[in-house]
Amino acid sequence: RIMSMWLFFFLTAFNVSLFCKAEVCPCDTKELCEQIRDEKDFEVLVFDVGQKAWKSYDWDKVTTVAAFGKYDSELMCHAHSKGARLVLKGDVSISEMVDPANRTAWVTEKVDLAKKQFMDGINLDIEEEVAESSPEYYALTALVRETTEAFHREIPGSQVSFDVAWSPKCIDKRCYDYVGIAESCDLLFVMSYDEQSQIWGDCVAMANAPFNQTLTAYRQYLAMNVDPKKLVMGVPWYGYDYPCLDLSQEGVCTLAKVPFRGAPCSDAVGRQVPYSAMMKQVNGSMSGRLWDNVQLAPYYIYKDQSGQAHQVWYDDPESIALKVAYVRDQGLRGTGMWNGNLLDYSNNPVAKQQTKDMWEALMGL
Ligand SMILES: *[C@@H]1O[C@H](CO)[C@@H](O)[C@H](O)[C@H]1NC(C)=O
Ligand SMILES: *[C@@H]1O[C@H](CO)[C@@H](O)[C@H](O)[C@H]1NC(C)=O
Ligand SMILES: *[C@@H]1O[C@H](CO)[C@@H](O)[C@H](O)[C@H]1NC(C)=O
Repeated sequence: RIMSMWLFFFLTAFNVSLFCKAEVCPCDTKELCEQIRDEKDFEVLVFDVGQKAWKSYDWDKVTTVAAFGKYDSELMCHAHSKGARLVLKGDVSISEMVDPANRTAWVTEKVDLAKKQFMDGINLDIEEEVAESSPEYYALTALVRETTEAFHREIPGSQVSFDVAWSPKCIDKRCYDYVGIAESCDLLFVMSYDEQSQIWGDCVAMANAPFNQTLTAYRQYLAMNVDPKKLVMGVPWYGYDYPCLDLSQEGVCTLAKVPFRGAPCSDAVGRQVPYSAMMKQVNGSMSGRLWDNVQLAPYYIYKDQSGQAHQVWYDDPESIALKVAYVRDQGLRGTGMWNGNLLDYSNNPVAKQQTKDMWEALMGL
């Protein structure tokens, strides 16, 4: 009896170790579990936040999907069948990464997870504030470098990307070593949105990603000698709905002051709204679609049930195409968006066309 119990434990342990070593490929063919190695000329990096919207993505354009929702093996198989990468989300508190042993443990865990799930890299989304030349400043760059080294070594052809603020000038107190980080990974996803997170001047509603301000920030990255082939322009598929304390005759929407990371006024007073929701509201709004000739962005005004005016600022194919023209012009690596789920993928013909136009605008052709 004792013998048979030992045998039982032995066999169970043996099975578990076998199972952990050789993961079973969940795809129709085992080739679909092989990681992608090819590089496309123009990157289109999509953030996916879960569920099944990915089934409606324009897969002729997608090159990388960052899985910010729950892991979905069906999405992995599908992405691979289209030659697209599926990458992990990497998010960690920087103070815990100052210790090199902790970094190694973290990187090892992520590489193992990626392998186990047949994934093609990782997107590091760390948006914490960091002071220049602090221990965290150096730890962050080291983390990016060590992550890239481990992924490239363990998963040939894998991609390590890092999400940066719209400008390298200590936006939201993120004073990172942008040059060192760019050199230490495959690409920077520039989050060209939330550009009103710190409003230093008049506390009024403005565009999420004004044309001139957005491009000025790319010039800053390039002036630091960041390789243009490492820059992916991230555009917003959402806008901001701002309640106006006062809406002037000229259409200036004054905001209540909500401070953010040292700035007295912020877009935090607004509400983020998906493109799909704004497209349902704009035509019936008080103003209809308006166009700002300075910021080169669309907006509209509506009144809520209490009679308060709201100004809604967003991006659409017209404003996005203007910015993507710069990506083409400067030979940047590509485009992407936050996030893929925010369009209307229903069968409504108007929605279908709007969704198609949004995907097209990413290509800047
Ligand atoms: C290492 O990481 C753990 C959590 O993963 C954390 O609790 C701990 O404080 C870290 N140690 C150091 C020295 O940073
Ligand atoms: C463009 O933006 C930069 C930085 O935000 C600013 O200094 C400059 O005045 C702007 N130029 C125009 C034409 O708006
Ligand atoms: C809103 O108006 C525009 C321009 O007239 C039109 O192209 C679009 O189809 C309308 N959207 C909806 C949802 O009806």
